[in-house]
Amino acid sequence: MKGVILAGGTGSRLYPLTKVTNKHLLPVYDKPMIYYPMATLINAGIKDIMIVSGRGHAGHFLELLGSGVDHGVHLTYEIQEKAGGIAQALYLAKDFVDGDCITVILGDNIFQDNIRDDIRNFNTGAKIFIKEVTDAYRFGVAELKGKKVIGIEEKPKKPRSNFAVTGLYIYDSHVFDVIKNLKPSGRGELEITDVNNYYIQNGNMEYGMLKGYWSDAGTFESLLRAGELVQQQNKSISTETFENPLIAGELVQQPSKNGFIN
Ligand code: DAU
Repeated sequence: MKGVILAGGTGSRLYPLTKVTNKHLLPVYDKPMIYYPMATLINAGIKDIMIVSGRGHAGHFLELLGSGVDHGVHLTYEIQEKAGGIAQALYLAKDFVDGDCITVILGDNIFQDNIRDDIRNFNTGAKIFIKEVTDAYRFGVAELKGKKVIGIEEKPKKPRSNFAVTGLYIYDSHVFDVIKNLKPSGRGELEITDVNNYYIQNGNMEYGMLKGYWSDAGTFESLLRAGELVQQQNKSISTETFENPLIAGELVQQPSKNGFIN
């Protein structure tokens, strides 16, 4: 299983914070934003990770994270020249993924849950992770029927449920064929929701309900909220494992000097 962090886009909703740096390098409480999605992948046992960033300030990711050696992972970098959508950014990881399965995480999403078991047990085409929220209209919204997800609407004015589709996805290697055949949406982007609806229509999608907190951090309000969540629950899985990355069970590993898994 490979990991991809999508950190492209323009960060325009956070302007002027994003005038001289990249959104994903802004602080969320006491760490740069990108540390959190990275921790989610590392805690799930993924060691081979690609970061897709926009061109602006791309060198800053290298300065911050380098080869990944400090964190016990191998990092590869790719540039998305223009913000053509989440699915377009993901397509840039095709050669890196090279026929493997992938876990994809949006660079501005902060999760408390550990998805190690979801990855271990993954045997469908795709898996999404859902969280009940009070502002579903801001997200992709899932319609559930029993144990099945029957459709996703991207930012509906009148959401059919309170179940937000979070920015964490597992796909089989077929995802690149799906993206190749996508048409841009009304806002001119290749939408990850269209990718997910393809898998749903083919009966190949499962979902997991997140138990811990989740926040995006792409607006002033959500950036503040994400920082507060991390601060209030700094004993949480995502942040604590950065300081103390011992993982329960058979996969106990030695922490590196920087607190990541070796
Ligand atoms: O946060 C979860 C939501 O993320 C989902 O519920 C939605 O279904 C999904 O479309 C997405 O919605 P947003 O409108 O909030 O996504 P945004 O444009 O803010 O992009 C989120 C991240 O994706 C961003 O931090 C970097 C990456 N991205 C985005 C675009 C548009 C790229 O790497 N390249 C891009 O071109």
